[in-house]
Amino acid sequence: VKGLDIREGIFDIRAMMTTSETVHVELGERSYEIRLGTESLGDLGAACLEVGLKGKRVLVVSDENVAPLYLDRVADSLASKGLAVTTLVLPAGEPTKSAAQLAEVWEAAVEARLDRKSFLVALGGGVIGDLGGLGAASFLRGVPFVQVPTSLLAMVDSAVGGKTGINLPQGKNLVGAFHQPALVSVDLSVLRTLPAREFHAGMAEVIKYGVIHDAELFDFIEANADRLNALEADALRHVVRRSCEIKADVVRQDEREGGLRAILNFGHTLGHAIENVRGYGEWLHGEAIAAGMVYAARVSERVHGFPAEDTERLTTLLRAFDLPVAWEGLEWEAVYTAMTADKKAADAVPRFVLARSLGDVGLPEEVDADVLRSVFTA
Ligand SMILES: NC(=O)c1ccc[n+]([C@@H]2O[C@H](COP(=O)([O-])OP(=O)(O)OC[C@H]3O[C@@H](n4cnc5c(N)ncnc54)[C@H](O)[C@@H]3O)[C@@H](O)[C@H]2O)c1
Ligand SMILES: [Zn+2]
Repeated sequence: VKGLDIREGIFDIRAMMTTSETVHVELGERSYEIRLGTESLGDLGAACLEVGLKGKRVLVVSDENVAPLYLDRVADSLASKGLAVTTLVLPAGEPTKSAAQLAEVWEAAVEARLDRKSFLVALGGGVIGDLGGLGAASFLRGVPFVQVPTSLLAMVDSAVGGKTGINLPQGKNLVGAFHQPALVSVDLSVLRTLPAREFHAGMAEVIKYGVIHDAELFDFIEANADRLNALEADALRHVVRRSCEIKADVVRQDEREGGLRAILNFGHTLGHAIENVRGYGEWLHGEAIAAGMVYAARVSERVHGFPAEDTERLTTLLRAFDLPVAWEGLEWEAVYTAMTADKKAADAVPRFVLARSLGDVGLPEEVDADVLRSVFTA
């Protein structure tokens, strides 16, 4: 994509040896830091003060899987800096991104007596980040919030970029707001307790960043798949940092999703349709987009001459993380209908982010329906 200006992440051995790193997200007065550390949950209180949060009260929102593991460490760290800490623990899982739970966040914020300077901490995966973020965006017309993402998907995707939201019975993410965090604090050690299937689903988004913008990242993941699967800190830090940098730079250039941000949807046109047809929950989001990326790569072969051997590399890499690379059992008619009903399908025409080569994609485009069908049924 022309105009996409991203600092190239030359792989730097010195960077790997430091134990914490910062990615700066440049958005004028809404700029913030993404701090990457290991065993850094206990430093959260200090980090909040360092980035200039001034409130004396804080509401920490988490879920029932994450809270027993990490909530005490986070709450103690905040309390040790003199903050009055209130906690809210909600059920884990997608249904928590609802209007009813958003109201619970508001009520907890009232109970915690948050004022405009007070802040909210979202400790959990994308569900807690999206819900907590919308709670912060709307309570008192907006209080600051801090993202402490604990799933890989949240670290590389949902915690960065400022989109918050909840689902309605009629569809996912139908209500939301743009609200940038004041800080994103990542402790990579928490990935040790993340279920493997969730880790793999997050890797699908990491691999996506390689395909859309960074062939070197793609090479790195290929060369280090075993180390990543073993959760080796240096390898993880590199891919999480690079993913955050790419997402942050895309967001910096297109904060409110008018153009460039759409390249983040590589693999998502079919992926969303699979989630839809299968019912949310059967396939994890990352699993659906893994298959969706293979599909988009094959469509790219037909439309832009994307090399077939690179589709092969993509497939092999996704398999290394136990991700699905096929869509057998799905009906073309149902999938096509779902793709045209997607909220991102302008005029009911599905659009695809397609690749020319690894690391180079274009903005979404329409594709001839015969091509779409023949690639799907091949
Ligand atoms: N705002 C955005 O830009 C954006 C982008 C992508 C996705 N999302 C949203 O993110 C959500 C998905 O996020 P997710 O995949 O993190 O789901 P999630 O929040 O449901 O987390 C996945 C599961 O892992 C558990 N978990 C999380 N961290 C853990 C840890 N360290 N140890 C043990 N268990 C842990 C959670 O309790 C949950 O059961 C979706 O609602 C999606 O719409 C938002
Ligand atoms: Zn996604």
